[in-house]
Amino acid sequence: MNKYKLLLVVSLAAIIAMVAMTVSIAGKKNERGVINSSPVVKADGVEARNEVWREHFPRQYDSWKKTSENDKIIDMIKEKPQLAILWAGYGFAKDYNAPRGHFYALQSNQNTLRTGAPVDEKTGPMPTACWACKSPDVPRVMEEVGIEEYFTGKWAKYGDEIANSIGCADCHDSATANLTISRPYLRVALEYNGVDLDSITHQDMRSLVCAQCHSEYYFKKTKWTDKQGVEKTAAIVTFPWEGKMTAEDMENYYNDREFKDWTHKISKTPMLKAQHPGYEIYKTGIHARRNVACADCHMPYKQEGSVKFTDHHIRSPLENIANTCLTCHRESEQELKDVVNRKLERKEQLMEITMDNIAKAHLEAGKAWELGATQSDMSPIQADIRSSQWTWDYSIASHGSFYHAPEETLRLLSVANEKAQQARLKLVRVLAKYGAIDYMAPDFSTKEKAQKLAGVPFEKLAAEKMKFKNTLLKAWTEAAIANDKLVPSIREGMSDNVSYPKN
Ligand code: HEC
Ligand code: HEC
Ligand code: HEC
Ligand code: HEC
Repeated sequence: MNKYKLLLVVSLAAIIAMVAMTVSIAGKKNERGVINSSPVVKADGVEARNEVWREHFPRQYDSWKKTSENDKIIDMIKEKPQLAILWAGYGFAKDYNAPRGHFYALQSNQNTLRTGAPVDEKTGPMPTACWACKSPDVPRVMEEVGIEEYFTGKWAKYGDEIANSIGCADCHDSATANLTISRPYLRVALEYNGVDLDSITHQDMRSLVCAQCHSEYYFKKTKWTDKQGVEKTAAIVTFPWEGKMTAEDMENYYNDREFKDWTHKISKTPMLKAQHPGYEIYKTGIHARRNVACADCHMPYKQEGSVKFTDHHIRSPLENIANTCLTCHRESEQELKDVVNRKLERKEQLMEITMDNIAKAHLEAGKAWELGATQSDMSPIQADIRSSQWTWDYSIASHGSFYHAPEETLRLLSVANEKAQQARLKLVRVLAKYGAIDYMAPDFSTKEKAQKLAGVPFEKLAAEKMKFKNTLLKAWTEAAIANDKLVPSIREGMSDNVSYPKN
């Protein structure tokens, strides 16, 4: 066979394979319509208790409950102590763990040192918005009290109302069991971007239910007046999607509003915290372009006897390659695992270098302030640091991004590293101007050292938290059970792992 014939044969084979893949995806979409015939869980309002859904949908419930299997605490500040420097002055420097199963989302939120130790419904530090992506009780309460009232006040205000971890009513309508967007802020953001909510395809919904929470957001301060004429300020979860959804677009959005999440304790920079722009980064990858949805990899179909249903055990698809990747790919399990691992290693390498540079930039800037540097010395440096850290955070805060969109993730890390380097070059000049030619940033190679530099009183925070867990948190749970908001059996045998000493 000559070269051109060979090329033709290979191209034809590739085209046939791609058509087969598309047909297979389309076929799966058609099957959905048939499976969906549903009893009414609650005709009016939101049924937040997953146990009540169980009566109608035992298979989906049992597989959902398996998200309780991943209850591991991986203390990310221990793994990467640089994080405490990068987030100095902000809650994340206190406590930050890798994500675990949806079953634990509410517990993680109650247990983290970031939500502090309120003593009553009016004490902080966090606003009600912090519950927003943890529980189906959130859309329930929003429907009951109104969106603005929901977003007004402190986190502790709804401690006895938000009782169930992420579940059925986060993604399904209680009356029809159809997939639904239960969070108003995603609807607002989509409409703002010209999406007609009535014409969203079923395949898009299989990603959009996840985008309700796995997205970038901020708390937008909004003044409003209640029915009694009282002026109040709400902190409303808002997606910064204006036009395109790139890291650069969102940075401009925040810059235009002179928005900051906090002022950095060491470098005094007005900082941005990227949340978890998982959906946005996924959209830039090849799978999104080929119309592969989040659910295709994280919620594959499962066969039990003659019944085929959606496996609700959301987790790493690598634990279930046979039913996820292999429905479309022909490589061996090992080959696919290797491919994903290589992508992870590439990201880790560049991420380490970048984090190191940003952490040193903060510490060198702190030294410059200490020696008497002026705001005009520091402004260009702070602009580099703000942009660098935003870009770094954006690229990795959504965990799976190294795989969902490897090129975009590595591009963002390179840009972030370059900006951190620019800041450090400028810092050499400023430090020299104030007589510190050979300044070396102090050692931040362990969690203890880094948190000390960041001024985090870890033991005190942990002790306060334990007191909260033994008093107010217990009272919240008791009240939720008494008011029929929580079916207690759902928490039987539930572990209670934390990243701090429990005494
Ligand atoms: C109501 C908000 C919400 C929705 C909706 C949601 N997630 Fe999550 N997800 C979270 C939170 C919060 C965590 C972290 C939980 C923790 O660490 O306690 C998480 C964790 C995860 C994890 C890590 C699980 C593990 O065991 O490591 C995966 C994977 C995941 N989500 C995928 C998805 C997918 C896919 C969808 C859509 C089908 C989705 N999520 C919808 C909020 C949500
Ligand atoms: C994070 C979002 C999410 C959560 C939480 C969730 N589901 Fe689903 N559910 C989905 C998706 C996505 C599908 C696939 C829908 C499709 O393609 O038709 C689905 C499908 C279903 C179906 C249709 C039949 C099937 O198996 O495909 C039922 C019934 C269902 N879920 C019930 C439940 C119940 C009961 C719970 C709570 C125990 C629950 N779901 C929790 C996202 C979710
Ligand atoms: C529903 C079908 C589907 C599923 C499920 C799926 N893929 Fe893909 N994958 C595709 C398509 C389509 C492409 C793009 C092929 C092209 O256009 O060249 C692709 C491309 C890829 C690529 C090449 C692009 C890149 O990023 O390097 C890799 C690697 C890959 N998939 C790995 C996986 C792994 C690992 C899983 C499981 C976690 C998986 N895929 C699940 C359909 C799927
Ligand atoms: C083509 C398959 C595929 C698609 C589509 C996909 N993911 Fe993933 N996802 C993966 C793989 C593979 C990983 C890496 C798992 C690992 O490292 O063990 C991952 C990781 C994650 C993680 C991090 C889990 C952890 O514990 O660190 C989250 C969260 C997540 N995905 C959510 C989503 C969301 C939300 C979407 C849609 C916007 C989505 N994924 C689309 C395959 C996919």
